[in-house]
Amino acid sequence: MYQLRHHPGEFAREMWGAYRSPAALGRFFQRTGSEVTQCWRDLLEKDRFYERIQQKEAELQRSGALGSSPGGRADSYSEILYLILRLARPTVVVETGVAMGYSSAYLLQALHDNADGTLYSIDLPTTDPEGRIDGDGVRDRTHVRAPQETGAVVPDDLRDRWKLSLGPSNPLLPELLEKLGSVDVFFHDSDHSYQNMIWEYRVAWPKIRPGGYLLTDDITRNQAFEEFVASVGGRPYRWFGRNGRRGALLRPPTAG
Ligand SMILES: C[S@@+](CC[C@H](N)C(=O)[O-])C[C@H]1O[C@@H](n2cnc3c(N)ncnc32)[C@H](O)[C@@H]1O
Repeated sequence: MYQLRHHPGEFAREMWGAYRSPAALGRFFQRTGSEVTQCWRDLLEKDRFYERIQQKEAELQRSGALGSSPGGRADSYSEILYLILRLARPTVVVETGVAMGYSSAYLLQALHDNADGTLYSIDLPTTDPEGRIDGDGVRDRTHVRAPQETGAVVPDDLRDRWKLSLGPSNPLLPELLEKLGSVDVFFHDSDHSYQNMIWEYRVAWPKIRPGGYLLTDDITRNQAFEEFVASVGGRPYRWFGRNGRRGALLRPPTAG
């Protein structure tokens, strides 16, 4: 049976910011509160999804592939990504920043449960145990033992909807977006320097279809998300943690 690291009640607690309940999350994603609750139950009752992730983690730990800084987590941090994709029902999803693949796994489980959609992920892995220093001078210790271990926790049977590219988001992201033409959801979780965050938002935004969503981690690290929201005027939503460490922005259905 699916087990949460947090009690399910934590879900509502983590809806900090403007929206704090399944009904409010539903409003943002234009679904009813009961649809949100149903998707949430789907995850809780999932065919051992969380156990499979835990098994993968244990295997990777035994083989030494899962270090002390794997990046990402399998908990309510990623569960809300699952819910968002269930509610947004996207066909094309683009993600930057994979690490061991926790967020990718939850995004892919949602696409699987929707029976639709492809996830395109980009990651520039480092094998340096010290990680790397980003453009703001902040050290990120996330690393993999070998580049091909990027996304290692993603269960095998979820990989048919996944296209993973290894390399820097600049230039891989604009190249991918050009090829795709339009995306339903873009999720930033790569280099969290101000410069890279705002660059990725600016590159992705025109390719997000009207009514689609920009999702982003680490919005409290710098002013990139706030400035971007102010410049494009979309409707923001913040979740995870007291100050809302993750953000979403709806591209207005009719706006240019
Ligand atoms: C926080 S981790 C991603 C965690 C993952 N999204 C999750 O929740 O499980 C950040 C990742 O971004 C990658 N990264 C850093 N700089 C990058 C760049 N310029 N382009 C693409 N990926 C980058 C790192 O290799 C690292 O795996």
